Amino acid sequence: MEISLKTITNLEQAVAKRRTFAIISHPDAGKTTITEQLLLLGGIIRSAGTVKGKKSGHYATSDWMAIEKQRGISVTSSVMQFDYHGKRVNILDTPGHEDFSEDTYRTLMAVDAAVMVIDSAKGIEPQTKKLFKVVKQRGIPIFTFMNKLDRDGREPLDLIAELEELLNIEGYAMNWPIGMGKGLKGLYDRAQHRIELYRPSDASKRFLPLNDQGQLAVDSDLTQDSIYQQTLDDVDLLSEAGNSFDLAKVQKGDQTPVFFGSALTNFGVETFLESFLKMAPAPGEHPINDDSAELAPNDDRFAGFVFKIQANMNPNHRDRIAFVRICSGEFDKGMDVTLARTKKQLRLNNATEFMSDERENVENAVAGDIVGLYDTGNFQIGDSIYTGKDPIQFAPLPQFTPELFVRVNAKNVMKQKSFHKGMQQLVQEGAIQLYKTYTTDDYILGAVGQLQFEVFQFRMKNEYNSEVVMTPIGSRIARWIKPAQLDEKMSSSRNLLVKDLKGEPLFLFENKFAERWFQDKYPDVTLTAKL
Ligand code: G4P
Repeated sequence: MEISLKTITNLEQAVAKRRTFAIISHPDAGKTTITEQLLLLGGIIRSAGTVKGKKSGHYATSDWMAIEKQRGISVTSSVMQFDYHGKRVNILDTPGHEDFSEDTYRTLMAVDAAVMVIDSAKGIEPQTKKLFKVVKQRGIPIFTFMNKLDRDGREPLDLIAELEELLNIEGYAMNWPIGMGKGLKGLYDRAQHRIELYRPSDASKRFLPLNDQGQLAVDSDLTQDSIYQQTLDDVDLLSEAGNSFDLAKVQKGDQTPVFFGSALTNFGVETFLESFLKMAPAPGEHPINDDSAELAPNDDRFAGFVFKIQANMNPNHRDRIAFVRICSGEFDKGMDVTLARTKKQLRLNNATEFMSDERENVENAVAGDIVGLYDTGNFQIGDSIYTGKDPIQFAPLPQFTPELFVRVNAKNVMKQKSFHKGMQQLVQEGAIQLYKTYTTDDYILGAVGQLQFEVFQFRMKNEYNSEVVMTPIGSRIARWIKPAQLDEKMSSSRNLLVKDLKGEPLFLFENKFAERWFQDKYPDVTLTAKL
């Protein structure tokens, strides 16, 4: 195919502008608040409080369902796009909070960087740790925002040390708080060599320059302030004994640039965004076809993969939206692509628009962007689509080991057909994991978050007219065992023996103790976890 040089140059330029990332955090650390501030900066909302009305840390399943039914906010805000300082920013929402699901994890497979928001009074909390682990495995850059500086929090030095201790990642402080809580005065900006004042009486004097010695170059009340002197000592200490900035490490996810601030009072967020956009990578190459080749983002062939499927909750419209991360080329409405799994040709007529400041974005989506395709059952999570003659297959998305399990049955035994159909399709789509008890073939569902079960139940009823009964088994530790090592007598109520879709056996251990007891009893058996 002949391509004009002009097109290639445009594509290259367009791709180089893209910055695609997700924000990860523990509930209540301030992810929603900072997202809103970013959207305000990006000019796509006009006031805070518009994204998710109420506190999203308590984002109830019922709210989620209601929102889904209205076909509103949650689809459009799944991807938020805006232009800022010459960059096109794509923020991918990682939904779920306490009820997080595999969607959250898979979304992290579709980004080029992650931002970790930490409540500076609490430090690293369990969910941050879990999500961090997934991001770390991808080897993408991770940026940290220590939030809620307007409240008394932990010592900044402690917070940086904790990154290393709990997450095993080096922290490099880009800026340093001058006081906190009621005594918050500002930020000592090491990266930009200036002081950023907190709520200055004169807004035009928000930034004060530093001299070559790293001290205030202009007159200010701060100079007399003991808190400021303390900050100078801390910064000296950091320069002498702390990590030195290393962009190569940042790019691999071995060092995280740390920014302090307060999302609620919109302090430090703009500084963060500006630095972030300078350091975060543009879309890179993707390994394809069993790692035999690398696909460049400005390859003229369009290619991408489905990382999330969201059902339309309206029973009159069975369609769903398949979220595709574009990895190369350009998306055009109405283009023909090949679905790698089936080799079937598909015409991509209907794409949804996400929250954005420009309406024509879908039409000029390029590598790095996300398109939402209306789907009538063609797609599965992990599917690759491409244009051109040569097949393009991205690496399969990792499967996450479920932690919660239920037994599942059709409420009405006469309706087995719709039950099996719905079950088969939802499992195939990747909405939930299915297991069967080893000998009796009873259905067991596994999920990483409770929300997945509830959505499953809802969709079975709405889309397949099948009411299901779920009996909780609770949280279990799933461990696979080699079939050759298996003896059915090993199973007990504390370590339920089941098989996965491929027929491979695994135990669902009641707890760590049960697993240890098992390992002591059968020391030669190798147990393995997935991700
Ligand atoms: P999440 O999405 O990570 O779950 O957190 P979210 O932004 O919803 O923030 C959780 C709570 O923390 C909210 O208060 C929010 O206002 C508050 N918060 C976020 N950033 C800051 C900050 O920089 N400083 C302070 N002091 N508070 C912050 P809430 O009372 O739980 O909810 P709401 O009723 O105010 O919405």
